Amino acid sequence: SKVKASAKIKKHQTLGTDVYEMWIENKAIADNAKVGQFVALYCRDGSRLLPRPISICEINKATHSIRLVYRVFGAGTQEVSCYVEGELIDVLGPLGNGFDLKDNQVSVIMGGGIGIPPLLELCKQLKGEKHIFLGYRDTLFLADEFEQYGKVYVATEDGNVGHKGNVMTLLKEQNLKIDQLYACGPKGMLKAIQDYALNNTIPAQLSVEEKMACGIGACLGCICETKDETMKNKRVCKEGPVFLAEEVAL
Ligand code: FES
Repeated sequence: SKVKASAKIKKHQTLGTDVYEMWIENKAIADNAKVGQFVALYCRDGSRLLPRPISICEINKATHSIRLVYRVFGAGTQEVSCYVEGELIDVLGPLGNGFDLKDNQVSVIMGGGIGIPPLLELCKQLKGEKHIFLGYRDTLFLADEFEQYGKVYVATEDGNVGHKGNVMTLLKEQNLKIDQLYACGPKGMLKAIQDYALNNTIPAQLSVEEKMACGIGACLGCICETKDETMKNKRVCKEGPVFLAEEVAL
């Protein structure tokens, strides 16, 4: 269950161009956090939620802390990026429904851009053989941390590091026999993965977090259509952000 709480910033630093990592400590939030969920942060004046939720990159139950990796994209995240270690930040969470871990023999994990962070905790918790495909525009972040959990394949748009192009072409080249697929990233990437999963009858869980705005079920800006007869329109922030490939229209 979610709480609104004040959390202490334990560590805050940049991971590369406009991307930051922040470890925050709060027992209730860390205790309840599940892989694939997210939190909403409040601005310093306490009245306003940031315009976008931020996914949970890692959970450390022992130290009651969670790690957020976010990209500065506007005034709210710009403000947050200036907060320093030792300060407090108001957090609402954990929010949404996360991934359902299947400890299969062969899992493929695919992430694009700022969709990559929540997959780190997923890879940490998931058992079995893991093939991890990470797509970046140009500069890498977190890629080296994934290596301890499985085989990592990197693609960049400009070909500066790794394969030039996208994670889908990289995946196809491997000819893997896949038991379960997990993905988080921009809509175009998720759509390609969805098509691939459906055409090849691979069970897939897609985190559609890019579509979110308020993050708390209030703005209805995140509605997506599903094949659920009783609840056709679902909110990504409440009923998602993780959906099965066969149920969601992207
Ligand atoms: Fe506002 Fe889902 S993001 S209702």
